Amino acid sequence: METELTLAIIKPDAVKAHHAGEILSMYEKHPQFKIRGIKLMHMDRKTAEGFYEIHRERPFFEELVSFMMSGPCIVMAIEGKHAVSAHRDFIGATNPQHAQEGTVRKRFGTSIGNNAVHGSDSPENGVKEVNYFFDISELVDINWAHTWA
Ligand code: RTP
Ligand code: MG
Repeated sequence: METELTLAIIKPDAVKAHHAGEILSMYEKHPQFKIRGIKLMHMDRKTAEGFYEIHRERPFFEELVSFMMSGPCIVMAIEGKHAVSAHRDFIGATNPQHAQEGTVRKRFGTSIGNNAVHGSDSPENGVKEVNYFFDISELVDINWAHTWA
């Protein structure tokens, strides 16, 4: 089966609010998602800036980086058929106010900045972002059809 990888992050706001367990349970129950890698981490500036490098010139960059450094988060590698788009549907719109009912951001996000979760925005970025946070040895039962940088 042709599958995709997406990076998911349960962001510091959701971990701090003790929602990580409920969010993890949503992932676990999703029929398309397999968790292939998972770790708790507290990002330093270099890691957060590198991850959001694409947004460096945006006015909210510093706020975004500071937020991602503000506490522990849970980083996950998720594999599945059409995992990237299925995951974007599952997390909901960037602004939780605009997110559909039942999505993670609708349930647990409180503002555009504090929006509970991250999801990769394309299959290429999914692979890149999983690579950014995981060594290949930390991924379990992965479908080796993926190309690794
Ligand atoms: P993410 O990368 O975290 O999954 O979020 P996203 O794709 O839905 O949104 P993106 O455009 O990639 O933006 C990354 C994060 O930056 C914050 N943001 N703030 N103040 C603003 O106008 C603004 N716009 C974006 C959000 O927290 C978003 O998750
Ligand atoms: Mg994004």
